[in-house]
Amino acid sequence: MLFRRLCQAALLSVAAVQTAAMTIGGKPGMMTKPYKRAPLQNIVTWDEHSLFVRGERIMFYSGEFHPFRLPVPGLWLDVFQKIKALGYNGVSFYTDWALLEGKQGEFNASGVFALEPFFEAAQTAGIYLLARPGPYINAEALGGGYPGWLQRDPALLRTRDLGYEHATDNYVAHIGAIVAAAQITNGGLVILVQLENEYSQGIVPAFPDPIYFGYYRNAGIVVPLISNDAYPHGYFADGPLRRPSAVDIYGHDGYPLGFDCANPYTWPDDALPTYYLTLYEEQSSSTPYSIVELEELLSPEFERVFYKNDFSFSVTIFNIYMTYRGTNWGNLGHPGTSYDYGAMIDEMRVVTREKYSEAKLEANFLQASPAYFTAVAQNNTNANGSYTGNDALAVTALLGNVTNFFVIRHAAYNSLNTTNYHITLPTSKGNITIPQLGGSLSLHGRDSKFHVSDYNKQYGNKRVLVIYGGLGGEHELAVASGGHVSITEGSGVKIAQRKGATVLNWQMSSERKVVDLSCDLKIYILDRNSAYDYWVIDLPSDLVTRNYTNYAHFNSAPIVKAGYLLRTVEVADGCIHLTGDLNSTTALEVIGGAPSHISELTWNSESIPFKQDHRTGVVTATATYKNATYSIPNLSAIG
Ligand SMILES: *[C@@H]1O[C@H](CO)[C@@H](O)[C@H](O)[C@H]1NC(C)=O
Ligand SMILES: *[C@@H]1O[C@H](CO)[C@@H](O)[C@H](O)[C@H]1NC(C)=O
Ligand SMILES: *[C@@H]1O[C@H](CO)[C@@H](O)[C@H](O)[C@H]1NC(C)=O
Ligand SMILES: *[C@@H]1O[C@H](CO)[C@@H](O)[C@H](O)[C@H]1NC(C)=O
Ligand SMILES: *[C@@H]1O[C@H](CO)[C@@H](O)[C@H](O)[C@H]1NC(C)=O
Ligand SMILES: *[C@@H]1O[C@H](CO)[C@@H](O)[C@H](O)[C@H]1NC(C)=O
Ligand SMILES: *[C@@H]1O[C@H](CO)[C@@H](O)[C@H](O)[C@H]1NC(C)=O
Ligand SMILES: *[C@@H]1O[C@H](CO)[C@@H](O)[C@H](O)[C@H]1NC(C)=O
Ligand SMILES: *[C@@H]1O[C@H](CO)[C@@H](O)[C@H](O)[C@H]1NC(C)=O
Ligand SMILES: *[C@@H]1O[C@H](CO)[C@@H](O)[C@H](O)[C@H]1NC(C)=O
Repeated sequence: MLFRRLCQAALLSVAAVQTAAMTIGGKPGMMTKPYKRAPLQNIVTWDEHSLFVRGERIMFYSGEFHPFRLPVPGLWLDVFQKIKALGYNGVSFYTDWALLEGKQGEFNASGVFALEPFFEAAQTAGIYLLARPGPYINAEALGGGYPGWLQRDPALLRTRDLGYEHATDNYVAHIGAIVAAAQITNGGLVILVQLENEYSQGIVPAFPDPIYFGYYRNAGIVVPLISNDAYPHGYFADGPLRRPSAVDIYGHDGYPLGFDCANPYTWPDDALPTYYLTLYEEQSSSTPYSIVELEELLSPEFERVFYKNDFSFSVTIFNIYMTYRGTNWGNLGHPGTSYDYGAMIDEMRVVTREKYSEAKLEANFLQASPAYFTAVAQNNTNANGSYTGNDALAVTALLGNVTNFFVIRHAAYNSLNTTNYHITLPTSKGNITIPQLGGSLSLHGRDSKFHVSDYNKQYGNKRVLVIYGGLGGEHELAVASGGHVSITEGSGVKIAQRKGATVLNWQMSSERKVVDLSCDLKIYILDRNSAYDYWVIDLPSDLVTRNYTNYAHFNSAPIVKAGYLLRTVEVADGCIHLTGDLNSTTALEVIGGAPSHISELTWNSESIPFKQDHRTGVVTATATYKNATYSIPNLSAIG
């Protein structure tokens, strides 16, 4: 009953806001800002660059995963761990009203629809959550998540029509309370809540209606409210196109190549959205740049070119739709659309080698590069030819106080050409043209690369740098004050001193190269396919406070070479505990972050033999593949 009364109080205050606004309705542009809230908590905050959680600047890098499409709560941790192992720190999820209130007035989130086990699993894996409870979700679900009984209601959907409001009240009150209880302010990991879903077109003159859009503001939600405009129209953003609303952080979605799953290599001319940065500056430059859904439709080449295009605009709230595919059971899916989007974790929860691994490399790079979080994206209007003098290439710069990032791609983003180039970058040592040791760099077709300058990163007292690139082609790296150099593995690395820096130059091959510098830096040089086998996973949460500090690996998380999947890494009392999945007997190698003189190494809780190099601390072992043993029930014999 208490709950009921609380709901009524909440609904009343919604009604009060609505009444107040009705008197000035129809001219939303004239309104002052009655719907904007003062911050209601101080755990999740933001500035123009990024979110902060408990004062720690984060990039919210998340994968979309819908619990109702995997109605087996015992498997949720599996998916969360696979997303965590990508180097992501977030999951975005919808809830489906039709499944929770199939009969009007009977909200029932229990059994496989209970969300608490989903929140628990997120907490165990250390994953922040973006809750997207609708009521309209689209989600390629039949009816966009609307229950069937709503079809009998003549109310105007997605408006302030009292009939529609009445129909949604019960759902909004209940789901609002469930999500509210899981907010980080209440010990959970929900740090963002999305208002409605792609509310970017609708019934005029009601649309765009900031008051209808203010749903959930009064449902006990105190964490920031984010929007996801279907396209970057700027609806409800805080810029010159301002429409005062409950939105704290403006975001938009991006499906730049449409939905043609059958033709992953058909990339029409001029379909790369290079204008996002200019729109962001106009629409919402005081909030972190947020892409709340980026399509995950095509090939790994798509991830390289399109994700990095978004990184070149300093996106720091970034969600990939879908990351786990899930199942269309019980006529859940809209018959006209795919739910798949080429998800990197497929319906059987298999980690797809190329797409998953490419996504992992990119996320790992950003998470190991906190300078990215505050680097300022530069106007890319003149990206063609900049820094390279070659009009076939486009470079967009992200400038920080010290570290700079330069994202390069073909100017014609769909080009299949191989283009050789030199690049001249501003550095603390003045402009440097790379490569310094002769030859040229090259970009191969639908690829995009980060060049970095003054990239400075401390990895505890032993520093390990893992760098990778595509097979073939010349690569170069300069280390300031590198000191004495020795190549401890592999061959073909040219070494020279330039401007007080040690310059390394090599042709990329599948042979691993390891370079030791006496400045206490060890560099692993890998081709992309080899790099896929390396993992950096945050160390586990403090189970007492359940306070997960993401990016623990900034200082301490080991770098592990493993096989098909590494799930968790723990370092405790001179032991290293690894869990993961194998598809064959696999060599393990902990190349950084192992305590010296470890006494035990476990793989899936079993102690396994290992060797540790006393000088480098590197741990090597073999994890032996065993076929799983299981018995399948004889269904014919049951009942
Ligand atoms: C809620 O759903 C569960 C199954 O998910 C069912 O066992 C229970 O009876 C339902 N409760 C009500 C009140 O309908
Ligand atoms: C970039 O420069 C172009 C041309 O000068 C200008 O139209 C555009 O608004 C600028 N974009 C930003 C984000 O400043
Ligand atoms: C650069 O440094 C100044 C002073 O320390 C700081 O206020 C500013 O936020 C920094 N800018 C970036 C982009 O990191
Ligand atoms: C950059 O090059 C691409 C491909 O040639 C072209 O489509 C685009 O219009 C160019 N951009 C500018 C600003 O000239
Ligand atoms: C690829 O290179 C050829 C030869 O230089 C050039 O004619 C063509 O325009 C290039 N294609 C693209 C898409 O840039
Ligand atoms: C570096 O190059 C840029 C662009 O070519 C130029 O504007 C700048 O003056 C150069 N800086 C120095 C120190 O040479
Ligand atoms: C959670 O972790 C952060 C960062 O380490 C720390 O500042 C904060 O005090 C911790 N909170 C609790 C409740 O332990
Ligand atoms: C097994 O996993 C490895 C990655 O460790 C991958 O290269 C290989 O393709 C996988 N094999 C199969 C049959 O999936
Ligand atoms: C596992 O099972 C497969 C198929 O039954 C078999 O080919 C393979 O040899 C087995 N491997 C091991 C290590 O037992
Ligand atoms: C499964 O059960 C049926 C019915 O009891 C029986 O006929 C059949 O032999 C059983 N199959 C196996 C593989 O045990």
